Amino acid sequence: MAGLVRFSVSIEDGLLKKFDTIVKKEGYPTRSEAIKSLITAALVRKEWAGNNEVAGAITFLYNHHKRELANKLIDIQHDFGDIIISVQHIHLDHDNCLEIAVVKGKVKQIRNLVSRLKSAKGVKHSDLTMTTTGKKIS
Ligand code: NI
Repeated sequence: MAGLVRFSVSIEDGLLKKFDTIVKKEGYPTRSEAIKSLITAALVRKEWAGNNEVAGAITFLYNHHKRELANKLIDIQHDFGDIIISVQHIHLDHDNCLEIAVVKGKVKQIRNLVSRLKSAKGVKHSDLTMTTTGKKIS
């Protein structure tokens, strides 16, 4: 585990008050934890800005009565079998299915999969949660 480093930061009083409001609202125990979270978020954004190996979760919602769509979504997932780690299927109600695909792979591949799923005719909503494999975050 990396050692802790203590450093000081100089910022405007008003900005610090706003930051402390966020720290309190989000429930961080200390400013240090909040700053650590912001730095990590910036590092993850940077990973996703290049074609690095990253991890994420893709959610998509569709009506399973549209058989062609359900088959198409399965075909797409098989095309990306090398980056899809697992898929959870939730029968939300009589018509709607929610699927969550956990992915790990290169950014371009994941974005390609997201585009294919999102643009499949009949998908009601799709979104991508971007995270990291953790290898570049200490
Ligand atoms: Ni279902």
